[in-house]
Amino acid sequence: MGIKIESSKEALSKKITTGQATIGVIGLGYVGLPLALEIVKKGYQVIGIDKNNEKIAKLKNGKSYIADISNAIIGEALKEEKFETTTDFSKLVCVDVIIICVPTPTAADGTPNISYIEDAAEAIVQYMSADTLIILESTTYPGTTEEVVQPILEKGDYVIGQDIFLTYSPERVDPGNINFTVSNTPKVVGGVTEACLEISKLFYETIVNTNVYTVSNPKVAEMEKLLENTFRQINIALVNELSKICYKMNVDVWEVIEAASTKPYGFMPFTPGPGVGGHCIPIDPKYLLWAGQQHGITASLIETADKINESMPSFVVERLENYLIAQKNEHKAGKIVVIGVTYKPNINDFRESPALHVIQELMEKQYVVMVVDPYIETFSVNYCDINTVPLSKQLIQEADAVLILTNHTAIDYAMVDQNAALIFDTRSTHFLFSNKNYYKL
Ligand SMILES: NC(=O)c1ccc[n+]([C@@H]2O[C@H](COP(=O)([O-])OP(=O)(O)OC[C@H]3O[C@@H](n4cnc5c(N)ncnc54)[C@H](O)[C@@H]3O)[C@@H](O)[C@H]2O)c1
Repeated sequence: MGIKIESSKEALSKKITTGQATIGVIGLGYVGLPLALEIVKKGYQVIGIDKNNEKIAKLKNGKSYIADISNAIIGEALKEEKFETTTDFSKLVCVDVIIICVPTPTAADGTPNISYIEDAAEAIVQYMSADTLIILESTTYPGTTEEVVQPILEKGDYVIGQDIFLTYSPERVDPGNINFTVSNTPKVVGGVTEACLEISKLFYETIVNTNVYTVSNPKVAEMEKLLENTFRQINIALVNELSKICYKMNVDVWEVIEAASTKPYGFMPFTPGPGVGGHCIPIDPKYLLWAGQQHGITASLIETADKINESMPSFVVERLENYLIAQKNEHKAGKIVVIGVTYKPNINDFRESPALHVIQELMEKQYVVMVVDPYIETFSVNYCDINTVPLSKQLIQEADAVLILTNHTAIDYAMVDQNAALIFDTRSTHFLFSNKNYYKL
């Protein structure tokens, strides 16, 4: 057995250090696609597997569906024959390192839905061969790697830590962030055994140009990811609550945050907004909440933060209505131009976006809502499809108010400033507005 441990680990290590390993990425979404292309850049052969036929067809034609990824990058990877995309899981037979990047949403009752991870693990066990490293990168509750993935993989013929290797390494990609990408963001890795840890550290050291930080087991790595995102959720809730108090007290919350930021230690600025969105901040803390509940702990801070963040769309609508009433001296549901439906600027992801709630509430109050978003053509609110419209002088001039929900850089704010009857900016857009009816959250 001692000889076998060395041989599997050595064989895989050799393939990794010589760049001969083939890497499989399961789930080519906001996380998996950029990761797969980064691995191609490092010289590896990559097989990307996704269940979504439409996405695979686009990739095969060199077309991107993610704002950060250009068609040119995909085209180059395809031309060099370094990147194969498929819906066929049998391709896993010839893969040496498998990275799982599938979704981890919550069920309707707010509890973790890890069925996508289970499906991926079931597919892997069907096709994997010996000397394979399997890495889970999806965000999930502590225990998933060892209590869910490991038993599925053990249904196969191989022993973890001897023939195959299993680790958890959270994905930290920040869509739209041009300063931090896969290659310059430190990686955290936790292995099921020491051999698992060593081999995955070796692998990631060939992918990232920065630190690969090892922890003692997968649970620590799973928990630290939940800490990162819960830290953001709670601090965002704090400034959102602060913004409500500041509004009532007629204090500029943005100026308060800027002033607090001059403290060189012990303070980190967060900004208020219309709520939180995306696949991470509204969801990951619920995984931690659930994990606590399984062990008799009620994470009331997480619950409260969730409530505060979820209250923001209504607060935004209420404030907008107050400004409209003050300006017109009457209450009449007019025409609102909403700028930005994505959950943050310069990306094309509107999953869980608070803009959807704001728009729904405005529509329920009989406002005519026109939505401008250069990254989105169509989206739906309450099962009703809405097409975005191009930004134009006439559109702005005809509106009773412009509501900025996402501060995309591609927007002509100067034109909006000059032509809007009223502007309510929930993002303190980095543009110096001179409009006399300009209000910030
Ligand atoms: N989006 C982010 O900013 C971000 C950042 C860090 C971590 N994460 C985590 O990464 C994971 C993936 O998130 P995402 O935003 O990339 O999701 P996504 O929905 O954009 O992509 C997931 C992809 O997996 C595919 N898929 C689902 N089940 C599959 C299966 N069994 N086999 C193959 N493909 C399958 C889907 O078709 C989809 O293309 C989640 O756990 C998320 O919490 C996301």
